[in-house]
Amino acid sequence: MTSSTFSLQTPISAHGVLIQAHIERTINDLLTSLPKPQHLSADQRRGVIARYTAVLEGNFIYWMTAAYLAVKSEESRLIIQGNLHEEVRDCHPGMLRRFAVAAHAAPTDSDALAVSRDLMNVRLFVGRLSGVRVVLMMAFFEGFIQRFMSFLAELAERQGSVEQEYTNVHGVCDVAHEQELFRAFAAEMPLDPPKSAADLFEGVDLLLTLIQSIVHSNHSRSSVSACSALTTT
Ligand SMILES: [Fe+2]
Repeated sequence: MTSSTFSLQTPISAHGVLIQAHIERTINDLLTSLPKPQHLSADQRRGVIARYTAVLEGNFIYWMTAAYLAVKSEESRLIIQGNLHEEVRDCHPGMLRRFAVAAHAAPTDSDALAVSRDLMNVRLFVGRLSGVRVVLMMAFFEGFIQRFMSFLAELAERQGSVEQEYTNVHGVCDVAHEQELFRAFAAEMPLDPPKSAADLFEGVDLLLTLIQSIVHSNHSRSSVSACSALTTT
């Protein structure tokens, strides 16, 4: 596949399907790059859970709110509103905090510092309020999270935790969230067309880099990248 496959003149339905397939491949590559939990030390396992919590606890609702502010179509607004409603009503940040505490992995200043630069890059990106690009980033994130949950749950189990509400809930509900966000993406494309493939995947790549900081802070990072994969596959 080359960049020309993603010509912005391609009809939205075909284009959307290709982009979704590309996002799925990016998620697969990212999951394949995860270390084996049994090969991580207790401190490394704690670090992954702590950095994940440092990022997600205070930022997921913020990013989704940015998507809500950025989109132009009523359909997208309703989809994102439903997602936010669930996050707030069921107190997902509280669920995540309980998960981290039970695994003895509540984030410290050092954990927050380890992800701060890459987190800031994502914050600056969402602050530009480009609906189609933020929605694609969030669709990627929902798709990643639901398949990341079994890894995260295993890390917590190996830390002696039996608290699995967060990982159970997100391993199930985010399947529907991902599909809904791809619908929002399709609705936004004609209203806010990106300039190029690199432009379209900017948020996905920034978030990918942040996830790699969460997972591989003490290890060498893999070189998974949505945009570079686009030009070489
Ligand atoms: Fe959530």
